Amino acid sequence: MFVEPSARAIRVEDPEEVEKEAGRSSKITVVPEGAEWNAVEQVMLQRRSIRKYKKAQVPAHLIRRMLEMGRYAPSQGNCQPWKFVVIRDSAIIQGIEDFCVGECKKTSSAIDYASMPAGSFKRFVTRIKAKLFNRLQPNMMHPVPVSGITAIAEGRFAVFHHAPTVILLLMDKRGIGVPPIDIGICGTNIVLAAQSLGLGTCWIGFSKFLNQSPEWCVKLGVEEPYEISEAITVGYPVGNPTHLIARETHEIGWFEDGKKQVLY
Ligand SMILES: Cc1cc2nc3c(=O)[nH]c(=O)nc-3n(C[C@H](O)[C@H](O)[C@H](O)COP(=O)(O)O)c2cc1C
Repeated sequence: MFVEPSARAIRVEDPEEVEKEAGRSSKITVVPEGAEWNAVEQVMLQRRSIRKYKKAQVPAHLIRRMLEMGRYAPSQGNCQPWKFVVIRDSAIIQGIEDFCVGECKKTSSAIDYASMPAGSFKRFVTRIKAKLFNRLQPNMMHPVPVSGITAIAEGRFAVFHHAPTVILLLMDKRGIGVPPIDIGICGTNIVLAAQSLGLGTCWIGFSKFLNQSPEWCVKLGVEEPYEISEAITVGYPVGNPTHLIARETHEIGWFEDGKKQVLY
């Protein structure tokens, strides 16, 4: 049976109608095609991972400002599954660097068979270990992290890039849905805020090695149900790194007016 919707039901279902009746219609502002990138877009385009920092420390109030932007990040069910640890003590930064370098040395000698002499027994055994590890953690066996670990182990690459400030992003494992996504969004707010404040940052995935140290976890206040998800280094960049890093042009499936197009 068809039921005539009541005036009240129409109001509930049509928010534009409700707005109009209340006399507060909001305007649509369309940015014209081809317009210059706005301030937010420019911050996103200009951000680069910074791996060389000036020795000068970043004022504490700017770090607080960045963390405030992290605090306002969206999260599933607004569960906010994060906690921040700010490290500005050079002895501690050196300590966590040394620990992560040690872990990279162990990991590299355990899995990086490609750097071992061809035909050697060591290479043969290490290759089997690497294959096993690849089954357990396939994403970590990509050449980028593996060569990064070897470069750190050999002293060719620093973990925290000698930055004056390191922010650890701790993740509450009880977060709703997929907490690592929430951490990614929170950290993105932090690095974009830093860029807008004239600061350089770099995400540090290798910081996760710290979870393997009960001593460092106690010292840094990392305890269940939290773990270190990522770190972000912060400082004033050396030079003016504006070089563009290549990005793929992934295909975009676009459904409109009963048609599907593939755009790039
Ligand atoms: C989650 C995550 C972890 C990363 N970990 C590291 C890292 O441990 N060390 C590093 O030097 N760069 C790290 N990066 C930076 C990437 O290498 C960098 O974002 C990428 O090469 C693109 O360059 P761009 O950030 O300058 O645009 C990480 C980036 C992300 C998003």
